[in-house]
Amino acid sequence: MDKRKIIVTSALPYANGALHLGHMVEYLQTDFWARYQRMMGHDCVYVCADDTHGTPIMIRARKEGLTPEQLIDRTYAEHTRDFANFEVYFDEYGSTNVDENRVLSETIYLRMKEKGFVSSRIVDQQYCEHDGMFLPDRFVKGTCPKCGAPDQYGDNCDKCGATYDAFELQEPRCAVCGKAPVRRGSEQLFIELEPFREFLREWLPTHTDAGIAKKLLEWFNEPLRGWNISRDAPYFGFKIPGYEDKYFYVWVDAPINYMATLERWAKKRGSSLDAWWQDPKAEIYHFIGKDIVRFHCLFWPSLLHNAGFQTPSNVFVHGFLQVNGEKMSKSKGTFISAETYLKHLPAQALRFYYACKLNGTTDDLDLNMKDFVERVNSDLVGKITNLASRGAQMITKSCGGILGTMDDDSRALLKACREQLPDVLAAYERRDFCRAMVLVREWADKANQLFDAKAPWKLVKEDVEATRSVLTGTLNLFRLMAICLKPVLPSYAEKVEALLGEAPYTFADAQKDVEGCPVGAYAHLATRIDPKAVQAMIDDSVVPETSPVSQKDIKKAVRQQATKPAEVVFPEPLAETIDFDAFAKVDLRVATVAHAEPVEGSDKLLRLLLDIAEEKPRQVFAGIRKSYSPEDLIGKQVVMVANLAPRKMRFGISEGMVVASTDPDGSFRVMQPLTPTAPGARLH
Ligand code: 2FM
Ligand code: ZN
Repeated sequence: MDKRKIIVTSALPYANGALHLGHMVEYLQTDFWARYQRMMGHDCVYVCADDTHGTPIMIRARKEGLTPEQLIDRTYAEHTRDFANFEVYFDEYGSTNVDENRVLSETIYLRMKEKGFVSSRIVDQQYCEHDGMFLPDRFVKGTCPKCGAPDQYGDNCDKCGATYDAFELQEPRCAVCGKAPVRRGSEQLFIELEPFREFLREWLPTHTDAGIAKKLLEWFNEPLRGWNISRDAPYFGFKIPGYEDKYFYVWVDAPINYMATLERWAKKRGSSLDAWWQDPKAEIYHFIGKDIVRFHCLFWPSLLHNAGFQTPSNVFVHGFLQVNGEKMSKSKGTFISAETYLKHLPAQALRFYYACKLNGTTDDLDLNMKDFVERVNSDLVGKITNLASRGAQMITKSCGGILGTMDDDSRALLKACREQLPDVLAAYERRDFCRAMVLVREWADKANQLFDAKAPWKLVKEDVEATRSVLTGTLNLFRLMAICLKPVLPSYAEKVEALLGEAPYTFADAQKDVEGCPVGAYAHLATRIDPKAVQAMIDDSVVPETSPVSQKDIKKAVRQQATKPAEVVFPEPLAETIDFDAFAKVDLRVATVAHAEPVEGSDKLLRLLLDIAEEKPRQVFAGIRKSYSPEDLIGKQVVMVANLAPRKMRFGISEGMVVASTDPDGSFRVMQPLTPTAPGARLH
């Protein structure tokens, strides 16, 4: 087979936030695929980088009192730590804020400009005079023009799903300072897509998922909209050649960084970008989520094609992560960071589970926690790993730790499994990791049946040599499974290599039998998952929900009250109203804090005992620890929701909820009655 030359990328994570399990769907599958290609003996380079430019990063740094460089350095350390702990191996992991990327971005831009593909026109945008900057849509907030929901972003409404222009938003305000922006025009640079219509129409159907291509081609019934590639200062990014105060939009230099990082990798090895990206034999694959196909399937190939670079061989698009069948949610604790996951659970469990669920389509992937525990415990630990632990330990204990020759039944089963090896490889190649896992699991079922039928634990009492043969068969079958699992479970497979005293496995090793050789010490391969650890991870990820009324709305209401005392002040309309009966169902009570203490193992929670004149005080876990110490609360009165269904948490049952508001800086203030009130008094 010819050795292939393969370049693989994943989308670059933004440098202003932590990696979470949604991100990991992409990095893990790319890692599986790259490892599979390397095990096939191909030259496969997996590159990625932090996406460091743009307004959100600039503002986040400002808020934290850091320079953007300091912020991106810190995030780089966090991201690379999480990737390493999840065993995601990059040949090179870079940053978009590097010289190679600036030079390539300028080169591509200038080539496009020379060919007349860059045009300029004046565009009106929201401008904040207070902060002295143009506001991207995500930095304008206001009332949805369609449904009236407050606090919506400048481009779409979370409540009704409408999309609109930032100028349609009612009562717009700057998300940074809260002041009203003004309309201001400035010159912007565009790359038109219309000239690339024919190129794209031909390119799309053969370079990405059929469904995605079809969707994108629906837009071809109308003129294709140009792409604004410039942003005005202040901006954290690369300056556009020929302009003093214009920068490349972050989405220009982000994909170009696939090449820049590859270039860094190549230069370290005395090679060059051209020797890879421009080699006609090279295959280039981008793994991306379905939210960024427009950038990767329209703009990116157009840039490459017209600037004289090879276009991707394929863009592999995957779906989003759901947890327990729903969108990830901070208040439900299902928005789980990579770091929090790793605090409670082993990386290989998630690697295995994602592999079991990923099938190479654009369907969403559901991380169902119950199913997750079951699959890992029953398949990976119970079926597959058990073969090794029983086989290896028995051969050490009863057969002097030396393999013999396989018995005929094992040899026959091994042959049958090997006949399915091409199916496993083909499944990996088409990113149908799920199918590969199913085949391995089926082999494990058969190997376990054979093991039970041979009953070596009985046989050993009569015939040690026959037992040695059976166990040699068991371990050869297991070894084949470990080889096939290696792209998904690399460190697991390494322990198997050590157990059998072998060099790192490639798929060529699947054809080899191991007989007559010593078996090393058995190292623990996989741990059962305790459902309590899953619950602990979720509890650790809960971000308490706070009142939807913002500090600003309160100030406004107070102001209105002061100037118009005779009028009843109605709060701004909320998107969804509830009728009086629904409101009356909420049982709000005044409670005296009888006891308060920190919760060990959580930096967010306080355990409160709340007296509402019932037989026993209520136990409530409140996520307000960052704003209150126990002494601040003991003896004070608060307001609690008394008829909230009890909720089981890792630390115990929570029997209600304390009412609190959030300050703009994120600190909490519990609501208190103005005057001492009888505990248990009902609010209405
Ligand atoms: O959507 C995102 O998270 C972007 N940071 C992805 C960039 S991918 C590429 F184009 F570099
Ligand atoms: Zn502002």
